[in-house]
Amino acid sequence: MNPPEAELRAELLQRREAVRQGGGAKRIETQHGKGKLTARERIDRLLDTGSFQEVDPYITHRHTAFGLDEKRFPGDSVVVGFGTIDGRRVALAAQDFTVVGGSFSEVQSQKVCKILDLAMGSGVPSVFLNDSVGARIQEGVWSLAGYSELFWRNTQASGVIPQISVMLGPCAGGSVYSPGLTDFIIMTEGISHMFITGPEVIKTVTGEEVDFETLGGAQAHAATSGVAHFVAPDEDGALDLTRRLLSYLPSNNVESPPAAAPAAPAGNADLDSLVPPDGAIAYDIHHAITGVFDGDSFFEVHAAYAPNAVVGFGRLDGAVVGVVGNQPTHLAGVLDIDASDKIARFVRFCDCYNIPLITFVDCPGFMPGSRQEHGGIIRHGAKIVYAYSEATVPKVAVITRKAYGGAYIVMSSKYIRTDLVYAWPTAEIAVMGAEGAVNILYRKQLQEAKDAAKMRAELASQFRAEFGSPYAAAASGHVDDVILPSETRGKLAAALRFLRDKQASLPPKKHGNMPL
Ligand code: HXC
Repeated sequence: MNPPEAELRAELLQRREAVRQGGGAKRIETQHGKGKLTARERIDRLLDTGSFQEVDPYITHRHTAFGLDEKRFPGDSVVVGFGTIDGRRVALAAQDFTVVGGSFSEVQSQKVCKILDLAMGSGVPSVFLNDSVGARIQEGVWSLAGYSELFWRNTQASGVIPQISVMLGPCAGGSVYSPGLTDFIIMTEGISHMFITGPEVIKTVTGEEVDFETLGGAQAHAATSGVAHFVAPDEDGALDLTRRLLSYLPSNNVESPPAAAPAAPAGNADLDSLVPPDGAIAYDIHHAITGVFDGDSFFEVHAAYAPNAVVGFGRLDGAVVGVVGNQPTHLAGVLDIDASDKIARFVRFCDCYNIPLITFVDCPGFMPGSRQEHGGIIRHGAKIVYAYSEATVPKVAVITRKAYGGAYIVMSSKYIRTDLVYAWPTAEIAVMGAEGAVNILYRKQLQEAKDAAKMRAELASQFRAEFGSPYAAAASGHVDDVILPSETRGKLAAALRFLRDKQASLPPKKHGNMPL
């Protein structure tokens, strides 16, 4: 006979309380002492109140060696389950640092893989809150096999459901490759560090002395490596960014992104006078973006990395779009290796998730120099062409000023199948700038000229008359229309309405061979 109902209830509540305690009150205190929240506190702050449904709270590890027997806690080192954010479904895993440092165990893998399988099967985004010392050393190959299972699943889920990694503690060694395989990494100042090899190993192997923060802190990965897409000042900020990011994303690759109420642009720049007539004078492409899209909807991705390019999500009449632009205030908006990687990755993400692309072009070309050549600008720059060429979502480009040479082609030109290309009256579409062109075409004549400076100026002026406005390109159909900057919002909105049901497909193949 079963015990009385009251006893069953009491046992369940007692077990639940034990689950809630993770690694125990002392370790929770230590976690708070480090300025960090616990896994459960994080989940409570991230999800809609009361929406969290936990899965596998009672599972424990199966290993005994090296003191593990004394470290057996219900649920082990990760909390997983599902819930809602702004009423929309998410799957969630939060590593529990109070249980063996959140170390990645066989059963942590079992839990995380189970929730990822459920998420993928139901078309629900996954959010992984990372705070872990890495592989559980005592479990040896069981831990490594568990990581492999996760990495395989991250790869299978890529392009099916959005995957977001939120870094709220250490992430060391090979464990960085789960976040590295996901779509977005959000890092938190001060408490999150990502690195393959830590400072001690680096010192032993190379002699270099470096601390955790300089090596793999939020700023290092946001500005230098490009591994982090967003940086938050603290945990609440990281969870806010997670919610905001999700608000632009569809739940899976067959849904459209969520629409919102349309709003007038918040930017106050006079777009018709934004672009200086002198091509050597910069202007901030953010002014064009905030002058075109809804309210303060522009949500910049990778803001600190390769600032010569700008990418992010925005809304136009309430519909989500991916925005790409060259940034004339940084290196004149030139394309270098890092900007190429940044643009290509963003374009591919948008294409995975049915997010139309709008590209603002003002680019003098690719960055010259042996550092760029030897760093593989050919290979990296090719990623932009590949990404735009492969993208089948609606694509619209606006040439605001320079569209020179290879940069014209790769930045969403018509011939890599951009649906509509508009040009502002300030657009210059040419193989190169006027002075450079004249120096090449008339090298001998300039060497022999009595007044080379005068001759160069006259020829450059003729070149500008031909290519310094968009009408030559428009006369031959290379751009679809010349529009006033102040007309851009209306033109783009109409274009996207028209292209809404665009159908395009790639030739049948296993997959292409993108130049990585
Ligand atoms: C098991 C570990 C552990 C590990 C730490 N602990 N590292 N348990 N496996 N790898 C335990 C500690 O004994 C402690 O247990 C608890 O976790 C918290 O650790 P602390 O050191 O007290 O935390 P803290 O002071 O905050 O320091 C965090 C840290 C440090 C800087 C991350 O723990 C550290 O350097 N750990 C080693 C990191 C590392 O090299 N990991 C392996 C990477 S290689 P108690 O019981 O006292 O709470 C890797 C390969 C993956 O991960 C390959 C995948 C393909």
